[in-house]
Amino acid sequence: METHLTGITTTGTPHLGNYVGAIRPAIAASHRQDVQSFYFLADYHALVKNQDPDLVRQSSLEIAATWLALGLDTSRSTFYRQSDIPEIPELTWILTTVTAKGLMNRSHAYKAAVQANEHEGDSDPDKGITMGLFSYPILMAADILMFKTHRVPVGKDQKQHVEMARDIAQRFNHIYGEQFVIPEAVIGADTAILTGLDGRKMSKSYGNTIPLFVPAAQLRKLIMKIKTNSLEPGVPKETEGSTLFEIYRAFATPEETAAYAARYAAGAGWGDLKQQLFAYLDAHLATPRGEYERLMADPGHVEQVLKAGAEKARGMATPFLKAIRQAVGIRPLR
Ligand code: TRP
Repeated sequence: METHLTGITTTGTPHLGNYVGAIRPAIAASHRQDVQSFYFLADYHALVKNQDPDLVRQSSLEIAATWLALGLDTSRSTFYRQSDIPEIPELTWILTTVTAKGLMNRSHAYKAAVQANEHEGDSDPDKGITMGLFSYPILMAADILMFKTHRVPVGKDQKQHVEMARDIAQRFNHIYGEQFVIPEAVIGADTAILTGLDGRKMSKSYGNTIPLFVPAAQLRKLIMKIKTNSLEPGVPKETEGSTLFEIYRAFATPEETAAYAARYAAGAGWGDLKQQLFAYLDAHLATPRGEYERLMADPGHVEQVLKAGAEKARGMATPFLKAIRQAVGIRPLR
């Protein structure tokens, strides 16, 4: 059976863009009979970007509660927290010893950080860059290779990291014999990217997101803030390039979307169109939002679900790491 695996860095609150781009397709895959899927909270990765302990913990809880509230099938798939699998940092070190430094030098994320320093005229191009940022792709390779992953569904920005995992696996296999499956990135063709409040891509780093499970009143307020043009009511409007329309379409059926588009053509006012989007989203999110709120109020239960997932994951990781240690010569002396 084919194995799919993906990680979610625990820095921030899930928003509509995360849902449409990553969470919804992953949850659909978790119900497939022909795929073995692994989903995990990448909290060790989060430490590279986020040094606020309370935020790391809060984000782990929010993300886990979100995935569970939306119906992730935890009996079919394996859902765990990276830091509950001590074999992952162990494997990371072993992989570090076969990873070319030059490969890491080519990482887009690292190069962008160096470029930012050069741009600011800093005499040290590595100023403020930690080894965590530099070797981030090796930890990610360990995540992937540990579970003999065939396919890694990720956004475009992560494609290079999966390619690095391939390189690292091939290097290891060349030296120590075939241990690792060579993974492949899948960049979903239908992976929608939503636009945020200000017209740029919806992203935590732009601060323009609509969180998935805010209370109804706040959801309404945020939708009212979405940028539109200044066409008056009565004037027909284009759906093309309209953030409101794009969000509506990402959630609604084709028939509902066509009806919404007809209101644009008929010259509905932006206020009405916003109200309609709000009503639609609110109706569709109400049930999982209730479940999310219940889970957020019961972190002990979420913890238990993650612990059970970790146990399942370690059922694979423990024997596999043992084989890897054996392969590299970390063995009993007699
Ligand atoms: N680096 C990924 C991101 O920021 C998250 C991640 C960590 C991941 N480990 C992974 C994704 C392994 C896929 C596979 O989005």
